[in-house]
Amino acid sequence: MTSRSATTDRRTATLTGVQPTGDLHLGNYAGAIRPLARLAAEEHRAVYVFVADLHALNSRPAPAALSERTRRLAAALLACGLERPNVHVYRQSRVPAIARLAALLRNVTAKGLLNRAHAYKAAVAANAEAGRDRDHGVNVGLYDYPVLMAADILALGADEVPVGADQAQHLEIAVDLARQFARAYRTGALREPRALITDGVGTLPGLDGRKMSKSYDNTIGLLADAEVTAGRIRRIVTDSTAPDRPKDPDACPLVALLRAFADPATVEEVETRYREGGIGYGEVKALLAEVIEQHAAPLRRRHEQLLADPAALEERLSRGERHARERADQVLARAMTAVGL
Ligand code: ADP
Ligand code: TRP
Repeated sequence: MTSRSATTDRRTATLTGVQPTGDLHLGNYAGAIRPLARLAAEEHRAVYVFVADLHALNSRPAPAALSERTRRLAAALLACGLERPNVHVYRQSRVPAIARLAALLRNVTAKGLLNRAHAYKAAVAANAEAGRDRDHGVNVGLYDYPVLMAADILALGADEVPVGADQAQHLEIAVDLARQFARAYRTGALREPRALITDGVGTLPGLDGRKMSKSYDNTIGLLADAEVTAGRIRRIVTDSTAPDRPKDPDACPLVALLRAFADPATVEEVETRYREGGIGYGEVKALLAEVIEQHAAPLRRRHEQLLADPAALEERLSRGERHARERADQVLARAMTAVGL
């Protein structure tokens, strides 16, 4: 299987990217990485997973922080179930055909389309609210983020792209640009991808009960030490119902987290005790810490091993990058010919 060449592989190409913005949290894992690992376990797929390091530049991270986060994220992806022969992990910036395809796509991208993209619109709305110029603080990297994202997808000839619902608009733009390119130049030069939207049903709550997110600073790290994680879990906000009073399991963030990580029998037992009023939050928190530790310990060990040998990690990523480059270079060559270069 490893010997299958990038250009002759006819399996379903499944592709997704993750931005190196910080260490993975339980929400990222349950909502994005674990579902991806499940897709990758089906051998009819060739899976392309990349660290979106070029995308991360639009928030102007400090250079040392960017390279460190990129390395940690690449190792985390591998450690979280993606160390498989049919999975290619790479850094976006190491596949130059992506940025070159983006340069071609820009000329079939209507500026109005980008004016309507969510991230840019949100920045404009925040500026309007603060009474500033509409484009205050907006760089072109943020503005044309959807073009680079379309290039990520189209350059690798992806068939399907698993993403959260927040990325649905970006996927529509990628499809749109593939069509614009076909209309302007040649049909079939770029493959139209299909979005696999992960539903929000599995959205995990954070410490304050809102969606777990870096933006809310309410996360529980996936690869942190057991004591750190247990400490975060103790900080999860619950109501003040006494241990011997009945509680609604569906309203409790602890149960939502337990459902994502514990076996069904444990979850059922806890839910029954909630309804019948025989469980205190301290006990549930201790159980949750234990369940998460069981799940996370092997991932954390593998992550540490991968980080401890930078040369081996570099070699792993280089392998993914060679494969991705081979595939993307073919697509770029077709697109270049189509435009007359
Ligand atoms: P954050 O909100 O912490 O910045 P990102 O937007 O970088 O997280 O999300 C990366 C991926 O993780 C996305 O595909 C998203 O669907 C998934 N994800 C993020 N937070 C959660 C959550 N609380 N529950 C489920 N999935 C999540
Ligand atoms: N924009 C995605 C996010 O913020 C990350 C991403 C970049 C991506 N390029 C991609 C996802 C291509 C899927 C396909 O989560």
